[in-house]
Amino acid sequence: MSNLPANPVFCALDTTDSVRAATLAHSLKGAVGGLKLGLEFFYACGHAGYRTVAEAGLPLFLDLKLHDIPNTVAGGVRALLPLKPSIMTIHAGGGLAMMKAAVEAAAEAGEQRPLIVGVTVLTSLDQSDLAAMGVQGSTGEQVLRLAELAEKAGLDGVVCSAHEIGALRRERSPGFKLIVPGIRPAGAAIGDQKRVMSPADALALGADVLVIGRPITDAPDPRAAAEAIRASLS
Ligand code: C5P
Repeated sequence: MSNLPANPVFCALDTTDSVRAATLAHSLKGAVGGLKLGLEFFYACGHAGYRTVAEAGLPLFLDLKLHDIPNTVAGGVRALLPLKPSIMTIHAGGGLAMMKAAVEAAAEAGEQRPLIVGVTVLTSLDQSDLAAMGVQGSTGEQVLRLAELAEKAGLDGVVCSAHEIGALRRERSPGFKLIVPGIRPAGAAIGDQKRVMSPADALALGADVLVIGRPITDAPDPRAAAEAIRASLS
């Protein structure tokens, strides 16, 4: 299983331009722990684009949020293993059997298997959205319920908002990884994120990975922005 890097910051490269992504990857080497590539990048640039970014040598978090029947998700995970990502995401809402199938497929990579983490409740959904889908209770309760199911299925952790770190740290095992987006260094534009937290505060609460995109990629000097975040954590 791949170990997480000492620097917890994974920079989200949300672009369809593989040249821009690769340029950023090379310029951020040593200043961030890893990079996150998601749907936008992967659908536009595919395996070839991924490999271009991977040439920078940083750990990669492939955030494709798989969600389908167990056999299909297992096949999807298997098809991605040759890329050797450090972290991959699936939807915890796909259920216990789907999550177990993903973990079993990932295990085929042996020592080099990626961490498989579950997306619980998308932060774009609130309690009324859950109610409309027939889910009772608060989003926080649903996050805890799905995280419990994820750990039972053998997942390595979940993606969560900074405001859920405390409750998840109390309820889940110490080794269960918490991957946290919605992080904003002091003074950075909040953009479309609604509830944000500083990198140092999220880390102090118990985050394992801090996903930070635009505060780095949109900065006039992305490397300097990443270095400043790293300095704020030491
Ligand atoms: O630019 P920014 O720092 O907001 O980027 C955050 C990254 O984390 C984006 O790739 C976004 O898709 C992802 N993400 C998020 N909120 C979640 C889950 C993932 O912002 N709840």
